[in-house]
Formats: sequence, structure tokens, C-alpha cells
Amino acid sequence: MQHNVPIAHPSFPTEESVAVEFAVSLDAPEALACDALGVGIAADSPALDGAAARVDKALGGLLSTVLAEEKFDGKLGSTLVVHTHGRIPARKIIAVGLGSKSSLSLDHVRRAAATVVRQAARVHAARVGIAPALIPSLGPEEATQARVEGAILGAYRFLRYKRDEVGHVAHVTLLAADPAQQKLMEAGVSRGRLFADATVFARDLVNEPPNHLPPVRLAEIATETARKVGLKCSVLDVNAMKALGMEALLAIGLGSDQPPRLIVVEYSPAKARQTIALVGKGVCYDSGGINLKTQDLEWMKSDMAGGAAVLATLQALPALGAPVRVLGVVAAVENLPSGHAVKPGDIVRAMNGKTVEINNTDAEGRVILADALAYAAQQRPDEIIDLATLTGSALVAFGYLAAAVMGNDPPLIQRLLAAAQQAGERLWELPLYEEFLDNMRSPIADLRNSGSRFGGAQKGAIFMREFVDGRPWAHLDIAPTAFLDKEEGTNPYVPTGGTGYGVRTLLTYLAGTSNTM
Ligand code: BES
Ligand code: MN
Ligand code: ZN
Repeated sequence: MQHNVPIAHPSFPTEESVAVEFAVSLDAPEALACDALGVGIAADSPALDGAAARVDKALGGLLSTVLAEEKFDGKLGSTLVVHTHGRIPARKIIAVGLGSKSSLSLDHVRRAAATVVRQAARVHAARVGIAPALIPSLGPEEATQARVEGAILGAYRFLRYKRDEVGHVAHVTLLAADPAQQKLMEAGVSRGRLFADATVFARDLVNEPPNHLPPVRLAEIATETARKVGLKCSVLDVNAMKALGMEALLAIGLGSDQPPRLIVVEYSPAKARQTIALVGKGVCYDSGGINLKTQDLEWMKSDMAGGAAVLATLQALPALGAPVRVLGVVAAVENLPSGHAVKPGDIVRAMNGKTVEINNTDAEGRVILADALAYAAQQRPDEIIDLATLTGSALVAFGYLAAAVMGNDPPLIQRLLAAAQQAGERLWELPLYEEFLDNMRSPIADLRNSGSRFGGAQKGAIFMREFVDGRPWAHLDIAPTAFLDKEEGTNPYVPTGGTGYGVRTLLTYLAGTSNTM
């Protein structure tokens, strides 16, 4: 009864999503031929400086005149388009506000680049130049990485099922001051490209509608991608999971005609001394099951965003050359109601022997992750990091603006917080008070999967702690940040839909660069 599974196998990520090309050029900003040239303008500088000043001079003061006429204040994200009418080879100038100079961070740079590219697409500029503002506190390599991330992620649209009605930026030229800087910037382009393309890979998976992405398809994509980039990949089907005693994961899958899968991907470089397990919630559709949801159902294709982030991260590791062995484990399943479905009151035994009373079938993520975490722990990794769109509680706490991190190992949490900060992904720790576990006990099983209402994110997390076998573990509840409902967010490089949250944090963490960038 899988008559609605499409036979076509679209590629991941979609070609359009990553079609922007980059070059680093030694051209002077006033000499670059392009459809639009982006120049950054700080909020608090009385006169234009750097590239903006040179362009203004070549334009005979036109830029500063128009900026003054329009009362352009340089606020972060503000833009102004000035036509050059042939006075310089660039056909338009896109002035972009950088905010106050004193608070300029890597993320301001990332946002400014995204704003330029979005504005360029709107005015149908295909060839875009970016004249980097002079920011002595940021090295050229990391600033370039941030600009490339901002450009690709800002230009991103999910176009597999819809024709584009705005312009498309095809080429971005970043201007370098000298050959030494050019070399560093080229390294930044490669890294930015890698981080952004991986994020796009996750976004595409999250945006893919659930009829096109059942668990079996997700596993196929993982297998194909792993082959392409040279990773090991194995997929456990229902019988393989039964043999391992994964009754918890299997129970959640019972209601759907689409069978569950456990996807295992491995990156194993020669010199690795450590193994890190990344575990992802891959609920390809979460209806709530018998505890059927009454709202947000149209978002629930995004309930595999944790799994998407894990797969997207893994596929980038060979190119990144990360120095650590990484094991990716994704529990892929659909949560639907039917005559076969798991019922409130059912008791299941996870593969580590612990029993769980399923008192709410909509708290399915922690149940499938119980088996996925126990499986990962059995491989004896040095650390386990899971990503899951686990709770509405985390959304209530943070709006769409930050994900929650919880765990049993404070240093691991600190390292993840630092990596997230570096990557421009907001992450905030919540405390796992022991009393939360008391609330997750069942009178007739070791645990119940749903506690009482308040502290929901922590109760979900502490439930999962019971399955990591005491290993250092951190859980990222990415329900707030995985999917943006409408253009509620004001971040120009995070458009509506799947965000790819977590990928750049994990790549930063695994590359071990969080203290150098
Ligand atoms: N996938 C949802 C969490 C979610 C909700 C993500 C809204 C994104 C937006 C999860 O499976 C769920 O339903 N959690 C329940 C748990 C509760 C029943 C204990 C929740 O948070 O309401
Ligand atoms: Mn649910
Ligand atoms: Zn869910």
C-alpha cells in the first residue's frame, strides 16, 4: 500500500539551491563590471570610508548625495539601491547597513551579505560584487566564510515544485585588497561554500513534502549521498530492528503504511582518536498518532529536521577533513493513527531493556530516540549529541529564536555553545534538574513518555538520558529553530521553511575550530 511513493528520485540538494558561483578578484571596487555592487555602510561613521568612499569618488559624490537625501542611517539590514548610469562599470550600487561599527560581529557580516544578495535578486542583478568593509577585528578568511554563507543561505529558495518569480543571483565576486588577502579569502570561500551547501542540503530535506520523503526514501538518499562522498552507510529495516529489540522505535512506526528505518552513516578518517555519535530525530511526518494533533499539522513534515542535520553534517565531513570519527544515527519513521497504531497505554521495551508506558503517542520523538540513543551508546562513542524537534515547550520558551541544549556533561555543553555562537546559530542551555525524572516515571513501567505539562523540554530530555548508558551526551531541542513558519524571523539568511539549523554548529564543532575563528 505504498501507491503514493513517487518513483522519481530527485537529487539532493536541488541544483538550483546551490547554483551561486564565487570568485575572489583583485579589481578595484570602482572598476568591477557587475550588475550590482554591494557596499557596507556602518551606522556611526560620519563619512564614507573604504570601498564606499572609493566608489563615491568615482561617481562624483552621487552615492553620498543619495544616501544623505534618503537619510540612510546604516542600520543593520537597511538597503538602498543607487543606479550608476554608466559612470562606473557596476550598473547599480546596493548600499547595505552594517549597524554600529563597535558591535560588528561575524554574524553582522553574514547578515549583510545575505541582504545584498536578496536585494540583488529583487532587482534582477545576476552578477553581484561585494566590496568587503574594512573590519580589522575579523580575519579575511572567517569574514569571507561568513559572507559566502550569508550569500548562499540568503539566496536560498526551495524551487523543486514552484517556478521562481524573482531574479536569481548566479555569480558573486568578492573583492580582495592584495594577493595575500586573496589567498586567505579563497580559503574562506571554500569553507563558506562547504558549510552553506551542507545547510542547504538539510533545508531541502526538511522542505521536501512528506509524500515525497517517507523513511525509506530518506534512507535511500542517505545511501546514495554516502556513496557519492565516500562514507559507510547501512540501513536497518524492520526485521533488523526487531532482531536488536528496538520495540520502542518500531511501536511508533506501526500506524503508518510506510515502514521505519534506522539509518547509520560513518565517517572514519585514518588518524581519528575520538568517536562522536550524532543522533537525529527523523520523524518524516508527525500527526501525533492516536493523540492526533489539532494544530500545526502542516509543519510536521519538518519533524525530521534533526535527522536531516545529522545527514547533512556527515556528508560534508570528508571534504572538511574533520579529525574525528563520526557515527550518524537517524531514526526515520512516520507517526500516524490507524488500526495498527501504538495506543496510549501500550508498554514497549527499548533495546537497552527499559520499559516505557506510552501515555501520549504525540511524544513519539523521545520514544524512537530511546532506541537510537541506546544503539549509538552500544558503539561506545566518546560523546553523543542528538538533535530533535522534540517539544512545543522549547518553542514556548524561545519563540523561533534559539534552540535549547541540555545534557549530562557541562564541558560538552560549553563546547557546543561556543561552536553555535561561532556559527551564528543561537543555542541556550536549560537545566536538567533531577526532579524532572520523577515526573517521567510510570506506576507500571520504568518510564512513561509524557509527563505533566510544565518543563516539557527538560522532561523530554531527561527521559532520553535514561538511554545513553551514562556516556557524555548533549541533546539539542531544535523545535524552535528548525522551521520558520512565516517571515516572522528577521534574519535575512534564514528564509521561511526549513532552516538547516544545527549543521553549521556541528561542522564548526567537529572541525575543532570554535576557538580559532
Ligand atoms: N514534533 C513535536 C514537537 C513540535 C511541536 C515541533 C511544534 C515543532 C513544532 C513533538 O513530537 C511533540 O508533539 N511533542 C509534544 C510532547 C508532549 C505530548 C509531551 C509537545 O511538545 O506538545
Ligand atoms: Mn509528536
Ligand atoms: Zn514529533
